[in-house]
Amino acid sequence: MKFFIDTANLEQIKEAQDLGILDGVTTNPSLMAKEGISGDENVFNHYKAICEIVDGDVSAEVIATDFEGMVKEGEHLASLHPQIVVKVPAIKEGIKAIKHFTNKGIRTNCTLIFSAGQALLAAKAGATYVSPFIGRLDDTSTEGMRLIEDIRLIYDNYAFDTQILAASVRHTMHIIQCAEVGSDVMTGPLSAIVGLLKHPLTDNGLAQFLADHAKVNA
Ligand code: G3P
Repeated sequence: MKFFIDTANLEQIKEAQDLGILDGVTTNPSLMAKEGISGDENVFNHYKAICEIVDGDVSAEVIATDFEGMVKEGEHLASLHPQIVVKVPAIKEGIKAIKHFTNKGIRTNCTLIFSAGQALLAAKAGATYVSPFIGRLDDTSTEGMRLIEDIRLIYDNYAFDTQILAASVRHTMHIIQCAEVGSDVMTGPLSAIVGLLKHPLTDNGLAQFLADHAKVNA
């Protein structure tokens, strides 16, 4: 399973990249705003800065919601750097835009996926990735992981190439369950990624090893 980090924070992206396990980055307009990045040029430069840090795909989201606007914006985003994947919402105009980008060889991430039907249409349009938001489904008493399973079944039935990118991942169990049900990618916060390492027996065991070593090497 590929590990993406879901942030526009350069320090956290560097920290994840330094771990050596990072496969890509996802951003969205809320995450860019959280870092105080505003104005087209600043936003474009920020995407380029992210691409310089990581080796893998970097999702950059369009703001327009009409077909022409998405195409103009998406083509510009894609021209910024070869690692950019254009992120497009799962709406009617978005599906048309994804098909357009597919025909032009521009890679896409269909975002705000909350149903298997949306994921099916995005795959039909040739999306590179779909982003089902599992945490936000959990927030509404709906099992987000079930959606990942449903999409996995549909994509496997027809051998769609579209990769399932589990998004709105909030904690370590989401990551483990994504791996269990066969999500291709998960994107989450750095805290959830490094949280996978947490275990008191590891910490206690290491402390004991070091203490025993020190005793005989004083
Ligand atoms: O990748 C989508 C993500 O940024 C949304 O996460 O925690 O705001 O639901 P969250």
